[in-house]
Amino acid sequence: MLGTGARMRKKSNPNGKIKTTCTRGLAFVAIVGFSWGLFILTRLAGPVLAPILREGSEDRNALDTLASVRPAKNDPSMWQWNEAPEDDRLYLVFSTDCSGYQNWQSLAVFFTADAVRQPGTIVRIASGCSEAEKKEVQMLYDTFPIRFQVHFTPNFKKDAKSGKSYDFYNKPYGLQHWLDSKAAPKHKDAIVALLDPDFLFMRPLTYKVKQDRVLYSPPVTDGDLIDEVREGHPVAQYYGIGSQWTKFKVEYIAGKDSPASKVSTSDASRYYSVGAPYIAHVKDMRKIAESWANFVPRVYEEYPHLLAEMYAYSIAAAHLELPHLRLDHYMVSNTQAAGEGWPFVDRLTDKYVCSAEAPDQGQEQPVFLHYCQFYRVEHWGFHKRRVATGLFTCESPLFVTPPEDLEDTHWKDNGEKKTMYSKQEAQRAAYMLCNVIRKLNGAAVKFKNLNCLAGSANYTQEIKIW
Ligand SMILES: *[C@@H]1O[C@H](CO)[C@@H](O)[C@H](O)[C@H]1NC(C)=O
Repeated sequence: MLGTGARMRKKSNPNGKIKTTCTRGLAFVAIVGFSWGLFILTRLAGPVLAPILREGSEDRNALDTLASVRPAKNDPSMWQWNEAPEDDRLYLVFSTDCSGYQNWQSLAVFFTADAVRQPGTIVRIASGCSEAEKKEVQMLYDTFPIRFQVHFTPNFKKDAKSGKSYDFYNKPYGLQHWLDSKAAPKHKDAIVALLDPDFLFMRPLTYKVKQDRVLYSPPVTDGDLIDEVREGHPVAQYYGIGSQWTKFKVEYIAGKDSPASKVSTSDASRYYSVGAPYIAHVKDMRKIAESWANFVPRVYEEYPHLLAEMYAYSIAAAHLELPHLRLDHYMVSNTQAAGEGWPFVDRLTDKYVCSAEAPDQGQEQPVFLHYCQFYRVEHWGFHKRRVATGLFTCESPLFVTPPEDLEDTHWKDNGEKKTMYSKQEAQRAAYMLCNVIRKLNGAAVKFKNLNCLAGSANYTQEIKIW
């Protein structure tokens, strides 16, 4: 079924210039629904997944996931920086619920941030945790350096008007809840970067745009680059969500005379066709969070689909007349998409595509891997819904690591049929697969080293998804 979804997406974009990314890929997964996860895994994944299913299923909650963890030691030397964040202005936040599925992703964000020495404070906004879950999560995070934090909020998923559940309400409302809380940034010139939970760090995120290695595509030009994110000048990753929202009932959503109702389709695409990471001065982020939270139910009313929350963000930013500098290099997710950080990957010399070594000077990588598609090369694969929620436990084995020359294989096989890749697509898919697996293994090893009693942890490379 997942394979069918992938083919359908491809068919509906015959010109191959697919600009969007994750969210489109996610649509299918969202339809499948959470409770069907186990069913699908059992029915379709075949015997390869058996070891994972023994470890845990999709529906395990925080308690199940963390139950085996009793912090045995917290060795400060195991962290890149054990103390306060090196940058007291920068806050990186991401919104999650309290499922096991988002528990493991949150740990992967923390551990990969540490691995690249990401400055700043990193906050998981966790919505809808029970008291027992809060205790478990807090207990584990208390053993981490202080720059890794959790902020708990109520569950915001329910749509008041229709009674339906929309997962992504947690994002604007969770952000707003955090910004209104005592945990909000104290620095008056704080910079807030809103990430997604399915991000893995390849290199540190910085708000100093000009001195960073950047990518952008027309109509953005070199002259648009700013020294750093500051009040009135937010920056974000390009997503091909387009200008569709300009056709919505913008006056109903944002109010009569809202500047959002006057935005042209070309400006909508140039300044507001954006997504995570969103990076803004805290004052701007507060205003955006407020408008975003106000508008999102009315966007959902007209457009009850996955992207409602992203369009609501665009409308909020346009309403506040906060055009975003739209950049491409922050993440890679869809190997066929334009407007992502792929040009960096295309330029990597062979030996760095799948290797654990950092590239030479002069070679560059995207900031994040945004693992929200099905990645496949040969018989190797990765999909986030097929990862056992118990990945970060002492008992769970690690992923089998793909061979370092994986990019030389120009085909994939989903069990039903073999599909050929162009050289470029093979390199992109291999980069994604090798690095997601390598990063998750690295994070899992770090977790085990920190939390498991000597000799009790499972470091066997055994998990293989396809
Ligand atoms: C690691 O986990 C696998 C799968 O559950 C299991 O078969 C194996 O015995 C475990 N190895 C160790 C050393 O715990």
